[in-house]
Amino acid sequence: MLERVPTGIPGFDELCEGGLLRDRSYLVSGPSGSGKTIFAMQFIVNGIEHFNEPGIFVATEERPQHIREHFMSFGWDLEKFEDENMLAMVDATSTKIGLPSDERYIDVRPFDTRSLLDQIITIQDEIGAKRAVLDSTTSIGFTIDDLAKFRVELLKISTTMEILGLTSIMTCEVIEDGQDKISRFGVESFVVEGTIVLYYNRVENTRVRSIEIFKMRGTNHSKKIHPFEITNKGIVIYSREEML
Ligand SMILES: Nc1ncnc2c1ncn2[C@@H]1O[C@H](COP(=O)(O)OP(=O)(O)O)[C@@H](O)[C@H]1O
Ligand SMILES: [Mg+2]
Repeated sequence: MLERVPTGIPGFDELCEGGLLRDRSYLVSGPSGSGKTIFAMQFIVNGIEHFNEPGIFVATEERPQHIREHFMSFGWDLEKFEDENMLAMVDATSTKIGLPSDERYIDVRPFDTRSLLDQIITIQDEIGAKRAVLDSTTSIGFTIDDLAKFRVELLKISTTMEILGLTSIMTCEVIEDGQDKISRFGVESFVVEGTIVLYYNRVENTRVRSIEIFKMRGTNHSKKIHPFEITNKGIVIYSREEML
């Protein structure tokens, strides 16, 4: 039997036989504001709080200091987890936009897969993480002008995570009214074991959030689209309800 890693996100694990497969990589796709970063961080925080599994969060779009501040509103004290060596955040944002960073882990500019992976290997030696997040693949995609190369780089990242014993989530930002709801560059979902899609659709004059497990190898997952909400404790999925 393959081992499952519960995300601990309310309503999610029952949609997929108890969680993600250990040491595999998953893509969480959706438009801006759909909840990708929250989903990914909730997976890390639950790992720390409920399963004693340290986590790595690579932030390519927001500076770690902002992330720490934002997530305090869910009661997640990331700085405390970092002090306890249960969480490592990699600042892959500041140098990209030419700002100095006083973070402990900083990724170099321009983006280089080898140096990111070296960084993750170093962190692994220090904290022995079990879960990892790369938020997002999209900003990496924009630095590589060749799709075939981007696909290979993502494959290197997901395979290295697997070898390091990390169950990982990579996020992917899609264009709201774009053709491809699953990925931005059309290659991201090929290098992962599963793809989870977050929707944020306009229904009359409000936006409604919903989630779909689009692909999950080795898993008899729900084929329905389920509503979810972002509450002051994070994401809550209504697994017994489905979108019409
Ligand atoms: N404390 C909160 N309560 C309810 N909704 C929130 C809260 N914090 C953030 N949100 C919602 O989450 C959205 C951001 O989610 P995020 O995961 O950053 O999206 P993405 O990474 O997909 O762009 C915000 O635009 C807001 O609608
Ligand atoms: Mg985000």
